[in-house]
Amino acid sequence: MTFLILSYPARVATFRQVFARDLPEVGFADDAGAVDAADVRYLMTWVPPEDLETRYPNLELLFSTGAGIDQFATMPAGAKLVRMVEEGVTSLVRDYVVMGVLGLHRDLPAYLEQQKHKIWKVGDFAWADQRRVGILGLGELGLAVANALRPFGFQLSGWSRSPKSIAGVACHHGADGLSAMLAQTDILVCLLPLTAETRHILNATLFARLPRGAGLVQAGRGGHLDQDALLAALDSGQLSGAFIDVTDPEPLPADHPLWHQPRVVLTPHIAGHTRSETAAAATVENIRRHLSGLPPKGLVEPGRGY
Ligand code: GLV
Repeated sequence: MTFLILSYPARVATFRQVFARDLPEVGFADDAGAVDAADVRYLMTWVPPEDLETRYPNLELLFSTGAGIDQFATMPAGAKLVRMVEEGVTSLVRDYVVMGVLGLHRDLPAYLEQQKHKIWKVGDFAWADQRRVGILGLGELGLAVANALRPFGFQLSGWSRSPKSIAGVACHHGADGLSAMLAQTDILVCLLPLTAETRHILNATLFARLPRGAGLVQAGRGGHLDQDALLAALDSGQLSGAFIDVTDPEPLPADHPLWHQPRVVLTPHIAGHTRSETAAAATVENIRRHLSGLPPKGLVEPGRGY
């Protein structure tokens, strides 16, 4: 019974240490070429190997190294997919989104542009309790973001596929719920999983439903966003600014107009990053849960896609 991890050396070293200490009964491997494929019950990787469906006949759990799992289009029969749920990645995403919301709240894109042109000009003021922040996706990450934004006094709402209830957050779900939330959202945050239903959800129709001059913090997946629609909405003033951490494709091609859009703060998919120490502990806990017949935390429901 072996856990095989395919990752970079520093991460492998941390996992090796934690597994040797806390889960010595499970074998540990990091070399796909050297391991006996039939022994591999648990695999952790970010990029799926090409022959994933057939390579590990006894695979039980496939762990994504990150919070996202949309890269695993096909799964070996009998194996379950687990996304990374650990406090390291959650706290980084939370910090990024708080930065984006505060940046848009305080008109940072406009002031950065003024700075480039040496313009000293004071714009309008708004207070946090006058800003309505709408969060798309109320899972692990959306909840952490809501909890972090609450003390600032923003008016919070959120939207998820299934009904949720979160203190201090007006929770919406379903298509009608989405329209209702958008009409009341000054700063929209995207933390959705990428599924067939959410691909290109951030499109011209959605932007048109927001109040004029709204902002966007996009820390989901590049596939959520119609980038041309974003550029058009920024050009027309329908949107006033955006923090964009994920694009399609990645990296964004050098000649893409998003690089030059002054109202966009663009970052290279850094909103979240798995922290090896906490991820190793979470993975050990998940294997223990699995061995005792419990579902691992972050188990992906096949029909749902997250
Ligand atoms: C990063 O995007 C992740 O999925 O962890």
